[in-house]
Amino acid sequence: MPKVLIADKMSNRAVEVFKARGVDVDVITGLSKDELMKIIGEYDGLAVRSSTRPDAEIIGQATNLKVIGRAGIGVDNVDIKSATDRGVVVMNTPFGNAITTAEHAIAMLFAAARQIPKASERTQNGEWPKSDYKGTELFNKTLGVIGCGNIGALVAERALGLKMKVIAFDPYLTEERARKIGVEKVELDTLFQRADAITLHTPLVESTKNIVNRERLGMTRKGLILVNCARGGLVDEEALKDALDAGHVSAAALDVFSIEPAKEHALFGTPGFIATPHLGASTNEAQENVAVQVAEQMADYLLTGA
Ligand code: MLT
Repeated sequence: MPKVLIADKMSNRAVEVFKARGVDVDVITGLSKDELMKIIGEYDGLAVRSSTRPDAEIIGQATNLKVIGRAGIGVDNVDIKSATDRGVVVMNTPFGNAITTAEHAIAMLFAAARQIPKASERTQNGEWPKSDYKGTELFNKTLGVIGCGNIGALVAERALGLKMKVIAFDPYLTEERARKIGVEKVELDTLFQRADAITLHTPLVESTKNIVNRERLGMTRKGLILVNCARGGLVDEEALKDALDAGHVSAAALDVFSIEPAKEHALFGTPGFIATPHLGASTNEAQENVAVQVAEQMADYLLTGA
C-alpha cells in the first residue's frame, strides 16, 4: 500500500480520500526541515500547501518518493528541477481555489476603492470619520488585468459584471479568447497607461518579477488602485511605497509579499495601503476543493501511474 505524508494543514477531506482509495496516510504538520528529511524516505507521496518547501536536500533524502502534490496553484515552494531530476512528479490543483482567489481580488478592489478597513477601524474607535473617506466609484472605470489565465479571467468576468471596462495583458491570451471573455487585449505599457485599477494574476517567474516597477508606476494615471493577490515579488514594494506616499497611487491592496510571513513591512501604516496575510485561497470551499483534488490526483498516480 503506498504511503503519503500530509505535511501542511489542509482539509481532513484529503485524509478521507486517501483512505477510501487505499492509500496509507500520515498527517504530520509543522515539521522542521531536519525532521522532514529524517522521515521523508518512508513515503511515496508528499502533500503540501505553501509552508513546506521541498528543496533539493529534502528531495535528495526522499528515496521512495514518487509524487509531490501541492494543494493549491503555485508550485514555487517546490524545487521542480530537483524533483524532475529524481523522477518525482509534481502536481498542483489549478482550479480548486480559483473562484475564491478571484473573489478576494474583487473584495480587495472594493476595500481599496472605499478604504473600508481604515474606515471600519476608525469608526469602531468612536471617531465617525465620515468626511475623511471620499472613495472611488468602480462603475465605468478601466480595470487592467495582468495575467488573464484561470483566475484573471474569473476576475475579469466579475469586473465586467460590475460594469467596469476590462483590459488585459497576457502573452498567452489569444484575441479569440479575449473576445470570448469580453476583455480588450493590450500591451503591458498600454495597460499601465490606461488602467484606473490594476490587478495581478500571473505566476512569479523571471519575466514577471517586479512587473509593477517604478518606471511602470510612473506611467499610470494619478489615483491608481493596485491589487495583488497572486505572488509577492510581482510588485517592487519600495516603488509602491513611494508612489503611495506621493499620492500618485491612491490605494494598494496586497495579499502577498516578497517575503512571507510579512510581520513587519515598510508599507504597513502607509495611507491607502491594505494588507491581508495571503488569504486569497482561504475559504472553506476552496480548501476542501484543493484537498480533495490533490488527494484524488496523488492516489490515482500512486495506484495506477495515471
Ligand atoms: C496558491 O498558489 O494556490 C495560493 O497561493 C494558495 C495558498 O496556498 O495559500
